[in-house]
Amino acid sequence: FADDGSRLWLKYDLIKDVKQRENYAKFTKFITTSSTNATILKASEELKNGFEGLMGKKVSTIKKADSQVGGIILEVSEKQIFTKNLANDGFAIFSNKGNIIISSKTEVGVLYGAFELLRKVQTGQSLSNISVISNPKIKIRMLNHWDNANGTVERGYAGSSMWKWNELPFRIDPRYIAYARANASIGINATSINNVNASSRFLTAEYLEKIKAVADVLRPYGIKVFISVNFRSPRTLSGLKTSDPLDPEVRQWWNEKTKEIHQYIPDFGGYLVKANSEGEPGPQDYGRTHADGANMLAEAMKPFAGIVIWRAFVYNADPNGDRFKEGYEQFKPLDGKFDSKVIVQVKNGPIDFMPREPFHPMFGAFSKTTLGMEFQITQEYLGQSTHLTYLAPMFKECLDTDTYVKGKGSEVAKVIDGSIYNNQNSLMAGVANTGSDVNWCGHPFNQSNWYAFGRLAWDYSLSSEQIANEWIGMTLTNDVVAKKQINSIMQKSLPTYISYTYPLGLHHMMGEGHHYGPEPWLSKSGRLDWTSIYYHRADSIGLGFDRTGKLSNALKLYSNELIESWGNPEKCNLNYLLWFHHIAWSKKLSTGNNLWDELCFRYYDGVKQVKVLQDEWETLKAHIDFETFQSVQGRLKIQEKEAIWWRDACVLYFQEYSKMPIPKNLTPPN
Ligand code: GCU
Repeated sequence: FADDGSRLWLKYDLIKDVKQRENYAKFTKFITTSSTNATILKASEELKNGFEGLMGKKVSTIKKADSQVGGIILEVSEKQIFTKNLANDGFAIFSNKGNIIISSKTEVGVLYGAFELLRKVQTGQSLSNISVISNPKIKIRMLNHWDNANGTVERGYAGSSMWKWNELPFRIDPRYIAYARANASIGINATSINNVNASSRFLTAEYLEKIKAVADVLRPYGIKVFISVNFRSPRTLSGLKTSDPLDPEVRQWWNEKTKEIHQYIPDFGGYLVKANSEGEPGPQDYGRTHADGANMLAEAMKPFAGIVIWRAFVYNADPNGDRFKEGYEQFKPLDGKFDSKVIVQVKNGPIDFMPREPFHPMFGAFSKTTLGMEFQITQEYLGQSTHLTYLAPMFKECLDTDTYVKGKGSEVAKVIDGSIYNNQNSLMAGVANTGSDVNWCGHPFNQSNWYAFGRLAWDYSLSSEQIANEWIGMTLTNDVVAKKQINSIMQKSLPTYISYTYPLGLHHMMGEGHHYGPEPWLSKSGRLDWTSIYYHRADSIGLGFDRTGKLSNALKLYSNELIESWGNPEKCNLNYLLWFHHIAWSKKLSTGNNLWDELCFRYYDGVKQVKVLQDEWETLKAHIDFETFQSVQGRLKIQEKEAIWWRDACVLYFQEYSKMPIPKNLTPPN
């Protein structure tokens, strides 16, 4: 029967090849643990269910292996020689006297090891002489849900919220458990369950009881729950006259509220805060700073282990300013002023999750503040649930870019993992793409972005290809040829999308409101920083936002090496060209084409590439379950239609300025 996608990458279907199955069965006869710890029991249960499904035979669970061989031993130990190099949540998997040992200093580390072992089998790798040591590079690996109390999801494209607030705390939807397993399988250990545009309701006793029920489900899987809070809550919920963070009554209110939360959730992860951004309340309403606000919450959190995550996504409509710089400018004077419990969460790029952005200039520029990374898994500007876009290359492009803050080799990833400035904590958050759709994420390929985010938060050095291969093998097929073809589709998908939407460093040209289709012209609201013309600056001379000093000096926020390369239009990576330069239509680029021809080439080529994706997908029919095959096939047809929409809207609009003909022979760049 058709696969509906509900099991994500944890399918555990019978391995078809009998020989392969028999080979694995030699290593998976039993699972051994004497522990009664809830997390270890989850690990053991997962291995049992997984191997029984994959192998089609019973797997026993025993307390001691004694002299038996051919099983898996779960072990939490400080002493194991192999665990010497392990961080707390890290794990080792190795063969020892005929058994496979999964060893970690912590229970959750064993759970992660169990999923790694299952992944090996799910993707057809050998277990003989297995030897794995794996440590997470980032400490807090977190999903941010933008889910509302009324069941809607801000920028959600996969149905309504997966949290059924009307049923909680009494009914536990089995999906919460599936969610916990999926997250644990990729190392995600934290989740903030509600929208950053937060309703104060989530802090009421009524909702805390519901959140507690969710936290209880997630706990054995090593996942801590965070709550997004509305800064105005003391006024909204208790009628205080102010929410001024320096007001003693307000501080007392948060102290008490934080204590109350811990009565429900003793291991509460902490607060996530969007303040003074897009109309949300915040400390600036009272003439205070972001640090004043964050530190007040940190003080309330002092008796507990939790932390405060404060977002840096702030901007104002300033016709003479540059939104690119605002986060940096508001936060830079506060570097060193945040409590050690505070992490400032920064979006990967300076504007807003555009399909391609240079990394946010705050990364590397803050030596006294722990900065966390915020990626968006939900594809707000990336084709939502319709266009096929695999995001690992985008996440990696950001993480792998050198900031040069401490010389060559100071990649963004090293700012985030804390190694550059010796931070004690580290955070990578991804705005979740989960919803109530049967297959969780809408487009069948969108599941791969959730998967990829988790894998990269665990280890950002994994390649996009490897992550895609794992996901394909676990989710779609292990056929070698088909796997290669699907991987190639995934790798091509992001450049293709960018080509017909935002080539050459164009950004923020989507329709205001829905953020889906093209709107390169002045939008209805006319609010400057929400309209495309503010960003692309098309005129009779050329195209692009000059951020090298004349209009804005945003480029100066980066290290000299980057100013040198990005600041020079001759040297600037074409992918970022129009982010930093206003280029004349007739200017010859390194490809040999002038700007106008190159732009047209990219828009037209993007559409052609969607056809290539379609053709390649057609060849996979025999390897993909029919429902998934058809779903992707249909979406690729819509994608083609909409790629043409983007191309025509943008090319025709810009042509009004360039006044140049669309070149007849759209030659590929050199
Ligand atoms: C984007 C998005 C909003 C969201 C905001 C945020 O602007 O369109 O819906 O609230 O990001 O990250 O806070």
